[in-house]
Amino acid sequence: MSHRADASLQHLVYFSNATPQLSAVDVRAILGAAQVKNRRRDVTGLLLYSGRHFVQVLEGRGDQLDDLVKIIQADTRHAGLRVLVRESIKHRRYGAWAMGFVENLDDADALDELSQRGGSHIQKIGGILERAARSA
Ligand SMILES: Cc1cc2nc3c(=O)[nH]c(=O)nc-3n(C[C@H](O)[C@H](O)[C@H](O)COP(=O)(O)O)c2cc1C
Repeated sequence: MSHRADASLQHLVYFSNATPQLSAVDVRAILGAAQVKNRRRDVTGLLLYSGRHFVQVLEGRGDQLDDLVKIIQADTRHAGLRVLVRESIKHRRYGAWAMGFVENLDDADALDELSQRGGSHIQKIGGILERAARSA
């Protein structure tokens, strides 16, 4: 765990519950701000939105991810953020995107269902991310 707050390249995947009153406009605003700010932090990634839940992958320096996840966690537009994965990586997967976005998820129902079952289900979420990235 000593590699956490450092300069090495890492990725972090979390799952959260969107607040029920969140509108499509709100989600666009989140995305627009994220894209601008992530460029400054040299953070890249992908945001999935099922209509009820978010899954986000963040890639960047460990210290940048520490700062960013604290900010995102405190955001009242979602709740119940749980980090599923955080580890060192050699290469970015989403390096082309300051923050890619997929909202019309084929797997939206599967994602919503996973959240109700608890647990991390990281393999299933990984599969959902892979499919979503192809359509982003
Ligand atoms: C689901 C979700 C994902 C977010 N992703 C990012 C992100 O990748 N980068 C970012 O800077 N802010 C992201 N935010 C927004 C931050 O929580 C926060 O509102 C913003 O960075 C604060 O910007 P400000 O201080 O300029 O108002 C996200 C928020 C939500 C709800």
